[in-house]
Amino acid sequence: MATPYGILNRMRQGRKLTRDEVWSVVAGAADGSWTDVHLAAFLMAAAMRGLDSDETRELTLAMLESGDRWALAAEFGPLVDKHSTGGVGDTVSLIVLPVLASFGVPAAKLTGRSLGHSGGTADKLESIPGLRLELDRDRTLGLLERFGMAIGIATAGIAPADRRLYGLRDRTSTVSSIPLVVGSILSKKLALGASGIVFDVKTGNGGFFPDAEDTRTLASGLVSISAACGTPADCVLSDMSQPLGRWVGHAAEVREALDFLGGDGDPRLFEVVAAVCRKAARLGGKEMSRKDVEAVIASGAACQKLVDWADAQGAEPGWIDALDLAPVEAVVTAAESGFLEAVDCRRIGNAFADACRPDRDPSRIDHAVALRYDVRLGQKIERGQELVRLYVRRDPEVLQREVAAALVIGKQTEAPPTVAE
Ligand code: URA
Ligand code: CA
Repeated sequence: MATPYGILNRMRQGRKLTRDEVWSVVAGAADGSWTDVHLAAFLMAAAMRGLDSDETRELTLAMLESGDRWALAAEFGPLVDKHSTGGVGDTVSLIVLPVLASFGVPAAKLTGRSLGHSGGTADKLESIPGLRLELDRDRTLGLLERFGMAIGIATAGIAPADRRLYGLRDRTSTVSSIPLVVGSILSKKLALGASGIVFDVKTGNGGFFPDAEDTRTLASGLVSISAACGTPADCVLSDMSQPLGRWVGHAAEVREALDFLGGDGDPRLFEVVAAVCRKAARLGGKEMSRKDVEAVIASGAACQKLVDWADAQGAEPGWIDALDLAPVEAVVTAAESGFLEAVDCRRIGNAFADACRPDRDPSRIDHAVALRYDVRLGQKIERGQELVRLYVRRDPEVLQREVAAALVIGKQTEAPPTVAE
């Protein structure tokens, strides 16, 4: 049995780890026999020398095995999972799942909380009074049977080894290591056990990696390692160099999803929704065109699906009317004429995250704080024009200043494509 010292020594020499060695690292993380010192050294070695695809696959499978496996497809039959690497105003999951379910492609996901500048679907959904995200396997299967969709939050039983390693990555500057990111995301995704996974990997300065090359490596790693672990996957690369859709918020994005499904959708958001639906449907054995997406929305079926699902997961009667905007409005206007040349989307995401946690308490979010983003990269702007409208509880000045600084008015440039494949 390899000791922590022996494994670390081999890593330092640049040797490839065997399957057993990778599994003993993860077992040590889960059972506590590897100390924080050993694990921190493993993480830094992995971050600096990299992990190859075999090592990454074994890391993923070992972290997956450290916890519960729901294996939903084995019981339910084909279903797809959808994952976004996180962005600003990324309302896509709330739209895609009901659209797919209405089209006969069952879909389920365990969603996460906000992280850094990125919003979390779990936090957005909790703006719905009464809605409960704590699902177990049986309830998830029941929701899939009734609605063809389910959204929960990852439980403590899923990938406990990842939880320990993630905490240490945060303290050792190894969060950004691509193989570690791939293993971390996939170990939790594979625990659900869908028959296919579609990834929406965000590009641009509001994405997980601001660097385009890193983003492509992450996308191909997620797809190839998922397949190597036995679950077919596909990926959409979508632009996050400006907020997606018209709204950034919690309650506001739930309402944006309802409005979108009601037929009042932002065109950029539609591009991403259509691309994700097409790839997800294909993984579920169906072809879904843009026209199919439009038809499902026009029929009202997808909107009704979202409402029925939310009701089943505990939403209180009248919940749609409770999706409020915070009462203090402020605007960011253009200081000069020109074109919207650049947006620091990450800065907007960070400023928004601070604004909706007025007490700095990460567990207490003001769901009504929101930002309406009415301009688009490349658009012609007149001096004095309203660019963004803020909805806050009090004192809009900090958010106003940050958002203003994040919007660069300058020369005409071409906006990046919303979806690149
Ligand atoms: N999300 C995760 O779950 N893990 C990572 O490493 C990065 C993002
Ligand atoms: Ca949005």
